[in-house]
Amino acid sequence: MILEGLERLEYRGYDSAGIAVIDDGALRITKAGGKLEVLNGLTRGGTTLPGFAGIGHTRWATHGVPNEVNAHPHYNTAKTIAVVQNGIIENYVALRKRLISKGYQFVSETDTETVAHLLDLYYKGNPLEAVIKVLQHIEGSYALSILFADQPDVVYGVRKGCPLILGIGEDGNFMASDVTAILKHTRRVIYPGEMEIVELKADGVRIVTMDEEEVTHGITEVAWDISAAEKGGYKHYMLKEIMEQPRVVRDTLSPRIRDGRIVIEELGMSDEELSRVRRVFMVACGSAYHTGVTGRYIFENLARIPVETDLASEFIYRDPLLDRDDLVVVISQSGETKDTLDAVKIAREAGCKVLAIVNVVGSTIARESDFVMYTQAGPEISVATTKAYSAQLIALYLLAMKFAEVRGFLHGRKLRSMLDDLMKLPEQIELMLGNRDKVQRIANRFIAARDVFFIGRGIDYAISLEGSLKLKEISYIHSEAYAAGELKHGTIALMEEGSLVAAVSTQPALHAKLLSNIVEVKARGAVIFSVTTMGNREIEEASDFCVTLPETNPLFANSLAIIPLQMLAYYISDGRGCDVDKPRNLAKSVTVE
Ligand code: AGP
Repeated sequence: MILEGLERLEYRGYDSAGIAVIDDGALRITKAGGKLEVLNGLTRGGTTLPGFAGIGHTRWATHGVPNEVNAHPHYNTAKTIAVVQNGIIENYVALRKRLISKGYQFVSETDTETVAHLLDLYYKGNPLEAVIKVLQHIEGSYALSILFADQPDVVYGVRKGCPLILGIGEDGNFMASDVTAILKHTRRVIYPGEMEIVELKADGVRIVTMDEEEVTHGITEVAWDISAAEKGGYKHYMLKEIMEQPRVVRDTLSPRIRDGRIVIEELGMSDEELSRVRRVFMVACGSAYHTGVTGRYIFENLARIPVETDLASEFIYRDPLLDRDDLVVVISQSGETKDTLDAVKIAREAGCKVLAIVNVVGSTIARESDFVMYTQAGPEISVATTKAYSAQLIALYLLAMKFAEVRGFLHGRKLRSMLDDLMKLPEQIELMLGNRDKVQRIANRFIAARDVFFIGRGIDYAISLEGSLKLKEISYIHSEAYAAGELKHGTIALMEEGSLVAAVSTQPALHAKLLSNIVEVKARGAVIFSVTTMGNREIEEASDFCVTLPETNPLFANSLAIIPLQMLAYYISDGRGCDVDKPRNLAKSVTVE
C-alpha cells in the first residue's frame, strides 16, 4: 500500500525514498537513493516489510544530497521513533547544535533528523505530549508523519504550511501529502487544520489541538479522478506551479531574513570577501538567464558593483576576461544544464569563486560550484518554469541586498523598508493571481495571434524577455522581447493593424518614456496589453487591456509583473490546444550542448 502510494506521489520528488513499518513491536526501516523502483526492488515489492502501521516518503531534497542516509524516514538512535517530513524546518541548525550538546548523534545532513531526536528527547511514554512539545520548538513549514515502535496501531501526523490529508477507508485509514496517494483506497478525506495533531488508527481518527482539545472535521468526498488529482486538481502542472508561487516565495525568503537582517548561511563568503568582489558575472540559460538580467539591474543599483550578464552558451565560447576577484553567479532550476555547467568549469579554471542559485539539491551544478543558494521551489514538473523563476528572483534580491549591506550602501531605514517590501511579496503575488479570469479573457482574444511583441525598459525589458519566452515555448506563437527605446531603430517596421504588443511599465522613472513607445506602436495599429503599476492612469488609458500591480519597491516589481504574463502564455497555449506541460521539442532540463 505504501509503495503504491509513494508511486502516485513520485512527481513531487524522486531522488530517494524509504519506508518504516512496525512489525512485532520493532521498527523495520528500508531506505534507498534513486528512484522509487530501487526501494521497490530492495523490499521485493514491500514483502520484506510486513507490518500493520507504516510510513513512507519519496524525497525531493532540500537539505543534504539525495542518498540513502538522507532519505526519509529518519529515526532516533534507538530506532524506536521514525518520522517523514515534507517542507523545511527553518531552525534546524540551532536545534541540531542543542541536541548534539545533549549527546545526540546525527547521521544525516537533513533538517528532518532533528525532529526524530527531539521526539526522542521528549518521549516519556505519551506520544501526543511528545509531539506537542516538539511542535513548540520547531519553526518552518512542514507536514510530518510519525511512528512510535511501542504504539503499533497508530500513526501520528501534523501539518503547518504544507499539505496533509487523511483518507477514511473501508480497509484502513490513510495519511498523505496529496489525495493522489490514497485515491485507490478511498475518496473520503478529512483535511486537518494547521497545527492539529492527528492520531490515525485503522478503526478511527482522533484530531486534537496543541491544547489537546479534540476537534472534528467533516468528511469530504473527492470528486477527482486519479490523474487530475496528481495535479492537485489543476488541469496542468504549469497552472498548479503558477498558483504555488506565493508559498515558494515565502519558503525561499523566510529562512534568510532573521531579526531584520539578511542571513545567507550557504553563502560561504565572509563579509570581507564579499566586499572584495570587483565584478559579478551572471551566467545562465533561458528563463534563468532572464532572472540574471533583472539581477544585474538590482545589483548595480543597490551594491554599485559592475555586473555582466551572459547566456551560458555564449559565455563559454567568448573567452571571457575573468579575474580572480570576479564572482560568477550561475542560475539553474535543474542544476543539470550543460551550457551552464560548462560555464562553471570555465569560471573555476580562471580562479573565480562560483555561486550557484539552484533548485535541485545535489545536482551537478550545485556540486561543482563553490557555494550554493538553493531556491525552495520544490519539484517543478512543467517544462515551462514559473515558480522556480520566481524563487530565483528572490535569491537574487537577497544576494544583491547582502552585497549592498556589506558594502555600506544598505542599512537602517532603507534596509528595513526593503525587507518589509520583500515580506509583502507572497501576499501581493496572491493578489496578482486573482487576475486569472481577467487574463484568461484577454488571452482568448489572442489565441490566433501570429506575432506578439513584448516591450519594456530596464527591469521591464528583463520581464519582457521572460514573458516572450513563456508565450513562445508553450503556444508556439512567434514572439520577441524588445527594449522599448530600440523599436524605432528598425523593428517598428513590423507593426501593422492588429499587432499584439505587451507593454511592461513598472519603473516610475520610465513610465513617460514607455507611454511614448505605446503611442508610437498604437499609431501603426497595434493592440496594447499593458502591465503597469496601480494608478498609472495614462498608460492604462492608452492600453486596450491592462493589469495593474500593487505598490512595491520597483526593484522587486518583476516578481509581480511576471504573474499576468505567465498566465497570458498559459491560457493562450491551453486555448490553442497545445501540450502545456510538455511542449514539443523541449525538455525540462537541457543536459546537452
Ligand atoms: C524556461 O521555461 C525553459 N524551460 C528553459 O528556458 C529553461 O529556463 C532553461 O533551459 C534553463 O534551465 P535551468 O534553469 O534548469 O538551467
